[in-house]
Amino acid sequence: MKRLLASSLLLTLPFSLLAQFGPRTPEQDSLIARQQRKTQADHQAMLAQLNITQLRPGPSGNPKAPNAANADESKASPYTSLPDPLVLKNGKKVTSAKDWWQKRRPEIVEDFDREVYGRRPANVPGVRWEVVSTKDTVNGGYPIKLKKLVGRVDNSMYPAIKVNIDLTLATPANATGPVPVMMEFGFQFPAGPRPAGFRMPQPPAGTTPPPPNWEQQLLKKGWGYAILVPTSFQADNGAGLTEGIIGLMNKGERRKPDDWGTLRAWAWGASRAIDYFETDKAVDAKQVGIEGLSRYGKAAVVAMAYEPRFVIGFIGSSGEGGVKIHRRVYGEQVENLASSAEYHWMAGNFIKYAGPLTPNDLPVDSHELVALCAPRPMFISSGSPDVEGRWLDAKGMFLGGVYAGPVYELLGKKGLGTTEYPAQEVAVASGEIAYRQHSGGHTTGPNWPAFLEYADRYMKVK
Ligand code: GCU
Repeated sequence: MKRLLASSLLLTLPFSLLAQFGPRTPEQDSLIARQQRKTQADHQAMLAQLNITQLRPGPSGNPKAPNAANADESKASPYTSLPDPLVLKNGKKVTSAKDWWQKRRPEIVEDFDREVYGRRPANVPGVRWEVVSTKDTVNGGYPIKLKKLVGRVDNSMYPAIKVNIDLTLATPANATGPVPVMMEFGFQFPAGPRPAGFRMPQPPAGTTPPPPNWEQQLLKKGWGYAILVPTSFQADNGAGLTEGIIGLMNKGERRKPDDWGTLRAWAWGASRAIDYFETDKAVDAKQVGIEGLSRYGKAAVVAMAYEPRFVIGFIGSSGEGGVKIHRRVYGEQVENLASSAEYHWMAGNFIKYAGPLTPNDLPVDSHELVALCAPRPMFISSGSPDVEGRWLDAKGMFLGGVYAGPVYELLGKKGLGTTEYPAQEVAVASGEIAYRQHSGGHTTGPNWPAFLEYADRYMKVK
């Protein structure tokens, strides 16, 4: 199972990263094949529930393929309008914060729940947090208290499925009180052997930021860091939808079209981590932020949208399904997200928009996901298109921030303050929505210093 989780990650990484993994063993190949068959069957069963017989295929992430995804800005905007986050379904304009909170925001949440990310069940059972180990150690010379934790989900409703959440917390050993914490959705595997030849995604040579790493940058400020392992409680593939926390809630049966997808499940785990922080005296639980890259950048923005206790977000290369505008024909498309490789991240209903419906039929777009985070600060991060590739659509992510601006402004805050795409390595960060494209690859690494400079305006050691 653990090895299955790890192998599945290899299937959907961006093209630019795939080449960096070593060759697969025959054992891994057969595991992957079995898992793919199970995923295909689940995808097909969802299509049948939706009465869909045919989907439009998405473009290829390989820039050299004949069906390569569009990377020409002049062809990116065939859709000319976006849903207005400040117009109610009845056509009335929202002009007060009260109407945003009481009327418009709930409408947007309902659309994301039903059509995009799926509904989180109301009765998800409780989690019992256990400290597995506590250690006084150092990270880059900084003395820390390192805690390994496991959150055990009460599975009495269906004991056949066990769900545990893996979490690591590090706080400065010399702290005199509770500290702010940034939590990362970690590309890390549960304890156990990694598949032969497996290496963690690495940014291309020459783009790795010099030390200190992100953890040490936080420690230097007297803050703590945490790493949550999403695949410990919900696998990153369709085959796993009848297991993990989603499977537990469905007692091992398949999802209904508006049931939650993997991104919302990962976000649920992030909320449970905050529950734990609220009980740990080392953490200032009123100052916890969330960070993630790529699929975990999507998870980070979804977590922030649905969890008001995250006070800041650092959303790395989240692309399609994250803050990138769906109605942009550039890089990855809705059709890719609806395919068997990625549909598990989303609600089953989302698949409809890859046939018979189109992206233009979506009742919401990603700027409204950013708007759900308002008025809390969000830093949108991307790598350089020349190094990271164009699949993630750096400008599409910038626009997700731009079009959320009016909601932040209605709530008395500032958006990006410009519609002009900034030069590489220039942070647009004068308001609550910030954006920066660094010069490296598929990583948040080089943007940590700029993020932390901006975060200083919002979080402090008390
Ligand atoms: C794939 C996928 C992206 C995702 C990325 C990642 O490329 O198409 O949507 O963000 O994997 O998680 O690295």
